[in-house]
Amino acid sequence: MNEREGAGAPGGSAGGDVRRPVLDALATGPITGPELADRLDVSRAAIWKRIEALREAGFAIQGTDAGYRVTSVPEYGGEAIEYGLEAPYRVEYHDALPSTNARARELATLGEDRVAVLAGEQTGGRGRLDRGWHSPAGGIYLSVVLRPSITPMQAPLLTLAAAVATTRALREAGVDAGIKWPNDVLSRETGGKLVGILTEMEGEADRVSWVVVGFGVNANVDPAELPEGATSVRAEIGDVDRRAVVQRTLEEFEALRGDPDAILDAWREGAITLGERVRVETPEGEVVGRAIDVETPGRLVVETDDGEVRIHAGDCEHLRPV
Ligand code: BTN
Repeated sequence: MNEREGAGAPGGSAGGDVRRPVLDALATGPITGPELADRLDVSRAAIWKRIEALREAGFAIQGTDAGYRVTSVPEYGGEAIEYGLEAPYRVEYHDALPSTNARARELATLGEDRVAVLAGEQTGGRGRLDRGWHSPAGGIYLSVVLRPSITPMQAPLLTLAAAVATTRALREAGVDAGIKWPNDVLSRETGGKLVGILTEMEGEADRVSWVVVGFGVNANVDPAELPEGATSVRAEIGDVDRRAVVQRTLEEFEALRGDPDAILDAWREGAITLGERVRVETPEGEVVGRAIDVETPGRLVVETDDGEVRIHAGDCEHLRPV
């Protein structure tokens, strides 16, 4: 498989880039070359070239009387994710990158929108608060470039949506996952951290220019390769289909991200922090109490001995009930 694929190289003639449209058409069932060429307004030669390129990328495509039929899809990679994906993202795959967030930022500054950068491993993965992110092969390293019409104040909602999306994708895969405020996804079995999310943005006071949301999922990785406090899907339930997890994450994220009320409701539904006694380290000091709600754009409401406190940002620890 190519080091880099899905970078938008035009695969067609008159009608422009047929990369994604051919994948989308094949995903709905068999279709003949002439039908495809007509539908996409490109030459039959362009379709044939595209089908050959997909075969080279690992797709098994039979030519039947009913047309081209996909009989197997590569396990992972840009086109494998785009095939059957119900979300409008172009996926740029790299076997290895220093950081998918760094690559996504580059694309964002070039004006790109709705691109998902995916890497097989990262050599310089970055976490929150200038920490690193252990990124061995087998994990999921995904960063999404967006140009949403929001203010910087609203950006934390995207981070909550990202946490919800990965939690839902992991639950669907059989992992008992839950969200610790604001956006860590933990195993509810062991309390270990499964997912971290890093959101970066650029813009002015009243308008975001671009946002990069980075998802790091400890998927098919040995826990010995991860720092203390982390767990992996492999350790919790065994290896998962990373392609399905990435697709579901992108689909859930896309379905939610424009609707603040839906994000908060879904976050509450997936959260393990609400109802817990917590200690939160904030820039203004420590807050201890019971977490009772989350408010837009992601504030945690904590009931303390001195009344309700609203927290915008901080490191949250769940305490045993006293
Ligand atoms: C955290 O500290 O909890 C956030 C970790 C975010 C890691 C992901 S992995 C994909 C993307 N690329 C990076 O360099 N970081 C994010």
